[in-house]
Amino acid sequence: MNKTVEYIKEQIGDFKPEIAIVLGSGLGELADEYCDIKINYKDIPNFPESTVKGHQGNLVFSEINGKKIVMMQGRFHFYEGHKMETVTYPIKIMKKLGVENIILTNAAGGINPFLKPSSLMIIKDHINFMGTNPLIGVNDDSLGERFPDMSEVYSKKLRKIAYTSAEKLEIPVERGVYIALTGPSYETPAEVNMLRLLGADAVGMSTVPEAIVANWMGIKVLGISCICNSAAGLGTIGLSHKEVLQAAEKAKVNFKRLVLEIIKNIYQINIPPLN
Ligand code: HPA
Repeated sequence: MNKTVEYIKEQIGDFKPEIAIVLGSGLGELADEYCDIKINYKDIPNFPESTVKGHQGNLVFSEINGKKIVMMQGRFHFYEGHKMETVTYPIKIMKKLGVENIILTNAAGGINPFLKPSSLMIIKDHINFMGTNPLIGVNDDSLGERFPDMSEVYSKKLRKIAYTSAEKLEIPVERGVYIALTGPSYETPAEVNMLRLLGADAVGMSTVPEAIVANWMGIKVLGISCICNSAAGLGTIGLSHKEVLQAAEKAKVNFKRLVLEIIKNIYQINIPPLN
């Protein structure tokens, strides 16, 4: 980790990122539009490489709306064969760079019938259904405690800022529970029925490991799902990655506007917490 951090610091000089954004499938464009410094993952010592179509592999630094931002254009998934340690490695690096808030974004399937394709969902909580946990192993006490509290993984304060920002821009957003499965196969209709019974509103293959690790290290987390399709059995057609990317394309405009507004408001004080 020291080698990774040292290299990144050499590239960014005195730029100290306060907010990190992990850009999910089809949502990477923000990092093309706002890019002061770009580092390709493959140039960073000990950094993994992303292998999914629609995901690029860059760490992008930019000042946006007066805030210093680091964006991950492309993330690492468990289904790629990476270890959980690798999937969450960049999040630990963010902490070492001084990041205090992280916005995790993803493409997800809508399980709740209220979640139509191309809508946005603010994640209020998650269900880890990946069958493993990124904190398994010897605990690094310098980063977080052995048995971290998980009662507010998705910061109430950041969620409130997200809702207020969406309201201001008149962007409709839903709120719900995200459930993560390993993938890479999409769910069967029977599995989707089961996930609904378990209390999930949207399903995807990422975000949860990163959220667990960020929460463990005391980084405030906001999660935004871009609902790209109705989960299997709920829509009219079968699922394809192309369909997911097309819906992300449609939701992208609102997604970008919302994220920019959230960035602007992120240190706003005197916001009463949600109940
Ligand atoms: N299931 C799981 N992951 C997804 C989906 C889905 O329907 N859509 C986008 N990512």
